[in-house]
Formats: sequence, structure tokens, C-alpha cells
Amino acid sequence: MTAGRFITLEGGEGAGKTTQSALLADALIALGMQVIRTREPGGAPGAELLRGILLDGSIDWVPRAETLLHFAARAEHLANTILPALRAGKWVVCDRFHDSTLAYQGYGQGAERDLITLLIDRSEVAPDLTIVLDLGEPVASQRIRRRGGGSDRYERLDAAFHARVRQGFREIAAAEPKRCVLVDASANIADVHTAIMTAVRTRLLD
Ligand SMILES: Nc1ncnc2c1ncn2[C@@H]1O[C@H](COP(=O)(O)OP(=O)(O)O)[C@@H](O)[C@H]1O
Ligand SMILES: [Mg+2]
Repeated sequence: MTAGRFITLEGGEGAGKTTQSALLADALIALGMQVIRTREPGGAPGAELLRGILLDGSIDWVPRAETLLHFAARAEHLANTILPALRAGKWVVCDRFHDSTLAYQGYGQGAERDLITLLIDRSEVAPDLTIVLDLGEPVASQRIRRRGGGSDRYERLDAAFHARVRQGFREIAAAEPKRCVLVDASANIADVHTAIMTAVRTRLLD
């Protein structure tokens, strides 16, 4: 039996993380893996509660508080969902993880990046593979508008914020090439999926 693996999908709003994590999970199931698909913030009862607090916009958190709330949610998610699945030999496909905190709170909102990397380094587990979906404007905004369904607090932040977040993700991918693959998310859905499966095959299956 193949051991469980931990794959995260990262990137800005509208880059295709949710779309591609569903396609990836289906493809892994078709290959015979046991798979769970999850997302952040959230993925466990306490973490979903914190997701509402973070995204509804009723509080404009200071960056350090927001950072720690994301890590609090993540601690619940890891302990209750991700680690048990990995221990059971399952593959975990996660829509956002550590890199989103560094990109959004660190690069985007100006929270102390050394505090974020310290907390990341103390994590029980690191992803085996991270797909960073890279998408610029105006395509990202067009996709979010077309998706509809109301916007969360991050989606409502301005273009300069989203440009910092994108730059953050690109720097993270460049700094950790063993873990991360930067994928051009402007291609069509099938081509992005093919690029992701190529990365999974070459890095985790061969
Ligand atoms: N490669 C693509 N080309 C065109 N539209 C896409 C592509 N990937 C996703 N979409 C569409 O763009 C919107 C945002 O995609 P989504 O997967 O929700 O992004 P994210 O989870 O990264 O915010 C959705 O309506 C989705 O159907
Ligand atoms: Mg999504």
C-alpha cells in the first residue's frame, strides 16, 4: 500500500484552487488512492467556526491577531483531520495551507514574516507537494465576478493587496523548489489539471 501523501494547492482568489483540488482528488481516487479533500481556513469543526470569524468581515483584525487565528484554525485542522488521515495512509488534498498565511498575512497585510515562518517550522507536518497556481489581473477578477455568490473579506481587498499576495506566492515557490511547483493558472481548466498531474507523477509517484 502506498503511504499517504499531503498535497496543498495555493494561490490567489480565482486562481482555480477549488476547481483543481476537486479534479486532483478525483484523479487520485481513479488511481486507487484513498483521498480526503479539505480546505483552509476550516476543515474541522473548530476551524470552520474560526473561518466564519475570519472571513465575514465584522472585525478588521490586526495582522498579528489574524495570523494567530489562522494558526489556531490550522492546529484544529491538523489534529482532527489532516494528521489522522495521513496516519491512516490516505492522501490529503488541501485547498490553502501554510503558504496562504505567509502570502496573505505576511506579504499582503504586513504581519511579521519571521513569526509566520517560525510557526510554520514548528508544524507537525509539511506538505509533500505544493501546487502554487499563479494568476494575474484582470483574469483573476473576471473569474471571481463570473463565479458570483458574494465575496469574502479577502476578495474585497484592493488590487495592490492582491499584487503583494501574488508576489509572495511566487517568492515562496522560488525559495522552496523541492516542495513547490508554480503552475500557470491562466491556461484552461484541463491544461492546468494536466500540469498538476505531471507534477504529482514526477514528484510523488515515479
Ligand atoms: N483554468 C480556468 N479557466 C477558466 N475559468 C476557470 C479556470 N479555473 C477555474 N475557473 C473558474 O474561475 C472561478 C474561480 O475558480 P475557483 O476554483 O473557485 O478558484 P479559487 O478556489 O482559487 O478561488 C470558477 O468559476 C471556476 O469555474
Ligand atoms: Mg476556492
